[in-house]
Amino acid sequence: MEAKDNIEKLRKQVQHHEYLYYVLDKPEISDAEYDRLFSELKALEARHPDLITADSPTQRVGGEPLKSFKTVTHKKPLLSLDNAMNEAELEEFDRRVREGLGEEIVEYVCELKMDGLAVALVYKNGRFQVGSTRGDGVQGEDITRNLKTIKSLPLILNKEIDLEVRGEVYLPYDDFIKLNEEREAEDETKFANPRNAAAGSLRQLDPKITADRPLDIFVYFAEINHDLKTHFARLEYARNLGFKINPNIKLCHGLAEVKKYIKHWDNGREKLDYEIDGIVIKVNDIADQHKLGFTARAPRWAIAFKYPPLQAETMVEDIKVQVGRTGAITPVAYLKPVHLAGVMVKRATLHNEDEVKRKGIEIGDYVIVQRAGEVIPEVVKVSRHSAHAKPFKMPKHCPICDSALYRPEGEAITRCINARCPAQVKERIRHFCTREAMEIEHVGPALVEQLVENKLIKDVADLYSLKKTDLEKLERFAEKSAQNVIDSIRNSKDRPHDRLLYALGIRMVGRTVAALLAQHYDSLEDLLNIKAEDLQKIHGIGPKVAELVEHFFSQKDNHKLIERLKNAGIRVKGQGSRVPQLLKNLTFVFTGGMETMTRPGAEELVRQLGGHPASSVSKQTDYVVAGTDPGSKYDKAKKLGVKIINEDEFKKLLGGSI
Ligand code: IVH
Repeated sequence: MEAKDNIEKLRKQVQHHEYLYYVLDKPEISDAEYDRLFSELKALEARHPDLITADSPTQRVGGEPLKSFKTVTHKKPLLSLDNAMNEAELEEFDRRVREGLGEEIVEYVCELKMDGLAVALVYKNGRFQVGSTRGDGVQGEDITRNLKTIKSLPLILNKEIDLEVRGEVYLPYDDFIKLNEEREAEDETKFANPRNAAAGSLRQLDPKITADRPLDIFVYFAEINHDLKTHFARLEYARNLGFKINPNIKLCHGLAEVKKYIKHWDNGREKLDYEIDGIVIKVNDIADQHKLGFTARAPRWAIAFKYPPLQAETMVEDIKVQVGRTGAITPVAYLKPVHLAGVMVKRATLHNEDEVKRKGIEIGDYVIVQRAGEVIPEVVKVSRHSAHAKPFKMPKHCPICDSALYRPEGEAITRCINARCPAQVKERIRHFCTREAMEIEHVGPALVEQLVENKLIKDVADLYSLKKTDLEKLERFAEKSAQNVIDSIRNSKDRPHDRLLYALGIRMVGRTVAALLAQHYDSLEDLLNIKAEDLQKIHGIGPKVAELVEHFFSQKDNHKLIERLKNAGIRVKGQGSRVPQLLKNLTFVFTGGMETMTRPGAEELVRQLGGHPASSVSKQTDYVVAGTDPGSKYDKAKKLGVKIINEDEFKKLLGGSI
């Protein structure tokens, strides 16, 4: 009995100090003292294994890797938030809220909008039971064991109550940079941004990997204690229960104070050690929240004010061109390194020749760069022109294979049309191995470079005949790492065939088009010698894409490649995974003409991606896509305050997949 008491006492102590350190950031004992307590607890538990419980602080990491995640149905759907992109939209929100409540001035809670991953945490009797991802809002994945590895997430609360809280899991900037440096050193693909890194870390089947990533969590919503009548009081209460609540939340009386808060953090956000992409504004009074209610997708009592992307100024030291996997020649600005949103920016894409001209960018100029959530920053404009600047000239020959470059009439992109150009070969193989394609771990850019340079492979099919001994000949390769590479190549053989279709790197075939093709053609072989006119019958596939797909599958070289992939034992048919439901439950109305797709095509895409196309605008409409010369639907949308977007923004919603 004495052991049990001792263990419990120690657990309480360890837990208390973890709370002070990880949640409140106010430690009362030294790290060494904490380590001593923790080791003592571990030693005692080791002597009495029957007394170990799952929620002991020593048990944050444990268990065998899972085969897959279980699905969890959320008790209440995890909704999204409507966005305000500018002050006018924010004022509109405040006006609607005041009208809805019949009040002159409303009390709001302002919070930072962390750019991470939404999770739901369920507690029973004060003990952490299940944690899940947002998923499609209705169902998510059970990631309990991974969430347990987050030190600021309480396993046991101060009260034995049942409750559900929601929050955002994120990876601090410093840890994100460190993680990417490690990945680069190990030739693994780098994460595009802290958000992707957090998502990738949470979706590990082996909690030991998650435990290595210093994830953190802020709780922003708690459905607790009905005596508490305000959101602010509930968050305070949740903090006392043991949850980490962002210290920067603020009560704001009326819109003027909200605007002040927004301004303050627009200037201050770069100093935070995590990424935020806006401010969330919530009606504080819970009864008022109920009065205002929800739309199909978001609460009417809250809005996310989105900040514009972070920008910085620096000098263009050089402009060089890069050769992509489709032979596209992209000018890239080499910049004087500058700190931007937590990362050092050294390069920025300039897209194409015309863009460089249009923006008037010359070598030696000072420019504004921005990073909008993605890896590759872009140059917004020239801020100071240098008198000594040198203009950029598109080369006439490929910098890699020296063949003549070609820019078709009416197109913006200059290309190297030598399919055997080593740069293209390497890029195609790299693309094939990426996470979204065949997901071949351990085969990153540096290894592909080595393999091609050493003439061990010249296309993607060659990957599957690599031997361990081939790899061991390479520099810096040990037996274990060679085996890892061979294993991950072998493990990729059974990917659903839409992934293979995407991995082949056909121009303009993103993940959505690949999934559409896989839905209509059960096997890659059915696509050989396919005609563009047949492909165009698939809604969502336009003439340009159809032509490119026809071209790809008409090439004898590609027939041979597919044959070799098949002979290597790669799945070329079946199990085409479903099209990602990116627009699930969203209603779209189209008005006006579009440039790159037809209206029925766009409507079919919406349907395929889980949304609903509608013919008339109502309050239930989520988006009106306005093309050229929009009709009366546009005015109606304006009147009802429905979000209006253009064709480009619509395509962005498709996740860059078309
Ligand atoms: S409240 C019904 N508060 O933003 C309440 N969300 O665009 C809905 N987020 O899915 C969420 N920080 O992942 C809320 N302080 C905050 C937030 C926050 C980040 C994320 C969350 C949500 C998304 C909505």
